[in-house]
Amino acid sequence: MKKYTDEELYKYIFEASEEFYELAYKDEYFKKFFRNIEQDIITTQQTDFMVQNFGGPKMYCGRMPKDAHPQVWVDENIWQYREDLLKIAFENVNTPEDIQEKWLKIDAAFKHVIINHGGPSECTPRDKIDEIIYEPMPEYLKAKLKKAA
Ligand code: HEM
Repeated sequence: MKKYTDEELYKYIFEASEEFYELAYKDEYFKKFFRNIEQDIITTQQTDFMVQNFGGPKMYCGRMPKDAHPQVWVDENIWQYREDLLKIAFENVNTPEDIQEKWLKIDAAFKHVIINHGGPSECTPRDKIDEIIYEPMPEYLKAKLKKAA
């Protein structure tokens, strides 16, 4: 990867995160996953998490992906849907190719701790008031995903 300054890295990652959650919170299906968290908070958390994983300044103070998602049911379709939305965000804000590639590699490294292979009983609340987020993909969206593949 090209050498980026901390400022450049932060700028590119922030712009892509901001655009990704803009798209996510506007998306009639995908926004359901984010109903318990404010857009600006998750945008900041995702940015700091990614900057740190890219080797930039250590500013992230949230949970690791394994502990951030046990209440969210994510299957392969949902994973793919998120990745497609992220790629649109990269495109919209002109994220450099090498940053896109590294970002997707980092995501892939955490996939095994986020993805569910069984039903919603695999999900566990993180605390007493946590809601289980179980939003299986509607058939018409699955068909769209298949068509695009
Ligand atoms: C389809 C896949 C995914 C879905 C549906 C999803 C959904 C969510 C949701 C709903 C939250 C908010 C949880 C809360 O209420 O605190 C969250 C937080 C977060 N997610 Fe994801 N996520 C996905 C994949 C990923 C991936 C691939 C990464 C990074 C490798 C990631 C990193 C994070 C981080 C850093 C937070 C913030 C945690 C915190 O503030 O403690 N997520 N995600």
